[in-house]
Amino acid sequence: MGKADHPEGGITRPLLASSDILNLGNQTALIELFPMAAYAVRAPDGVIAWFNSRAAELWGRIPKLGDTDERFCGAYKLFHADGTHMAHCDTPVAFALETGASVHEQEVVIERPDGSRVTVSVYIDPIRDQDGAIAGVVNFFHDTHERKQAERTTGLLAAIVDSSDDAIVSKNLDGIITSWNKGAEQLFGYSAKEAIGQNIKLIVPQDRHHEEAAILEQLARGERVDHFETVRVRKDGSMLDISVTISPVKDAAGAVIGASKVARDITERKRAARAQAEQARLLDLSTDAIFVRDTADRITYWNKGAWELYGYTRDEALGRVPHELLRTEFPEPLENVREQLYRDDRWTGELAHIKKNGTEIVVATRWALDRDSHGNPRSILETNTDITQRKQAERAFKEKEFSARLLQLQDEERRRLARELHDGVGQLLAAMGMNAAKLCAEKSKLSQDAARCAEENAKLIEQVSADIRTVSYLLHPPLLDEMGLHSALKWYIDGFAERSKIAASLELPIDLGRLPKDHEMCLFRLVQESLTNIHRHSGSSTAKVRLWRTSGEVRMEVSDDGQGIPQEIRSKIASGETAGVGLRGMQERVKQIGGTLRIHCNGKGTSVLVTLPLTEEASPEQAHGPKDQHGQSHQQTKPLIGHGQAV
Ligand SMILES: Nc1ncnc2c1ncn2[C@@H]1O[C@H](COP(=O)(O)OP(=O)(O)OP(=O)(O)O)[C@@H](O)[C@H]1O
Ligand SMILES: [Mg+2]
Repeated sequence: MGKADHPEGGITRPLLASSDILNLGNQTALIELFPMAAYAVRAPDGVIAWFNSRAAELWGRIPKLGDTDERFCGAYKLFHADGTHMAHCDTPVAFALETGASVHEQEVVIERPDGSRVTVSVYIDPIRDQDGAIAGVVNFFHDTHERKQAERTTGLLAAIVDSSDDAIVSKNLDGIITSWNKGAEQLFGYSAKEAIGQNIKLIVPQDRHHEEAAILEQLARGERVDHFETVRVRKDGSMLDISVTISPVKDAAGAVIGASKVARDITERKRAARAQAEQARLLDLSTDAIFVRDTADRITYWNKGAWELYGYTRDEALGRVPHELLRTEFPEPLENVREQLYRDDRWTGELAHIKKNGTEIVVATRWALDRDSHGNPRSILETNTDITQRKQAERAFKEKEFSARLLQLQDEERRRLARELHDGVGQLLAAMGMNAAKLCAEKSKLSQDAARCAEENAKLIEQVSADIRTVSYLLHPPLLDEMGLHSALKWYIDGFAERSKIAASLELPIDLGRLPKDHEMCLFRLVQESLTNIHRHSGSSTAKVRLWRTSGEVRMEVSDDGQGIPQEIRSKIASGETAGVGLRGMQERVKQIGGTLRIHCNGKGTSVLVTLPLTEEASPEQAHGPKDQHGQSHQQTKPLIGHGQAV
């Protein structure tokens, strides 16, 4: 596009006013300094007065100075922008020389001797002498391709800036906004039109104006402000968390003339950070020990629960390997655990750990594997619950279960032995007894010695038979199964009194009736053990067994007038330690059927009181509490062993 015009008023070109410019031919250094290709031609014929090397480069040749064949232009061949041939006498230089008019920014195509073409834009002004007559013409021209390239680059940069989601803003040193991209429009709500020309304080909240002053100061020193996190205000008044990088903008001479800002909305990031902090706070509320470790097994998170459980602070735990820190004992080799974790993303089990204070604990542990978006393992979340107490209780329970089972087996075994003795040895002895009786009946036929032996044998057999029966009955009184507790107790207590010479009495309601089998067995064994203890330990000459029923339960008391249980044994029993197998066995039998056992020692001997619950059908119609001599119901005092206490 060609444009021929005269220079506008107000723009003076002192150089052009002088025809001296035509004589720059020997000022090579000066003309080489021109940033463009330049040459001058003389009036009236247009011979070239001088040219610089940039001009020769674009022409692709070196013209001969002053040669009348080389007029208007040093180029070999010329074309119009539309591709049509341009005669040298039609060139814009020839036109300016002829008319005295300037030609600015007209495109001319030069064909070089090697055939390559270059499009140049010319900037031609006539040179007048002191009288105003045209003395020549000067032409400054440049390769439009280079300019276009530069324009394209500028355009590209502008497009990049505009398409950026980040807000990119520039301002001068007075804080006046000089550019405002689309990202800024979106982020702050002001259009470029509204923002450019305004002070940057437009988007700075009142209470942060001081920040702006500090930033400007830093910029003036040529320093950059990196990722500065602050708050800005939108057009609608809402606040916005942003991260901003501010760089000084310098002129060609390096002086700071303003700043460019790239701002990024970090509201979401801040919200996420707050949410994360909130989650961490919530995790701290958990009484479970929760920690996270990376794939190298180093602890990266340690909650308050972990601190409380293990005694290690966050600082002490972070970066450590938990298996080493807590001296973990795994239920199976660690490689197996890892294999399961990486296969199922989870693993649960029980671990033994050692706390900072050296205490050993057992935890129920849950491991969860966290993977990144590509499925690669990122971290392991471990949640541990202290189950030490539960484990101890379980162990104790198992022990109790075990001893209860032992008691049961013992009972069964005794019953079997009793039957064997009664039905086997007992029957043989009975047969032997009959034979012995026959011998005795015919003792007159025997010698005196033999007759005495026969009589002695008969007596011995009778005695062995009685002893065997007693052992058998003690092992498992058949009376208990057949006749019930009343008869069995009476038989046992009479036998005990006879053997021990202790005046043992039995007091129980006539209408006691039958109790459940387990209850009868429990009460019988209790009487056996208590009377044996009285015989062995009390020194008492009397023993009393009393049994009565109240609504829903049956009670029994075995008491003596002896020396009582020694203080040290009482303390042992009170602190839950076991003194002997007897009392402990009693306690377990009673617990087995949901009853309670109390032992009283009030200075006048010992009494063992047992209460057993009765089910509906076994419940009595009315209470049969024993009365003392004043007709009062028997009251218990100062229990040594309370309800449910282990003996
Ligand atoms: N009636 C009692 N009078 C005095 N002391 C008693 C009486 N009953 C129990 N004791 C004391 O309580 C202790 C514990 O009794 P326990 O029946 O548990 O064990 P043991 O009789 O010593 O042995 P075993 O295991 O053979 O029964 C006895 O050793 C004894 O010191
Ligand atoms: Mg005993």
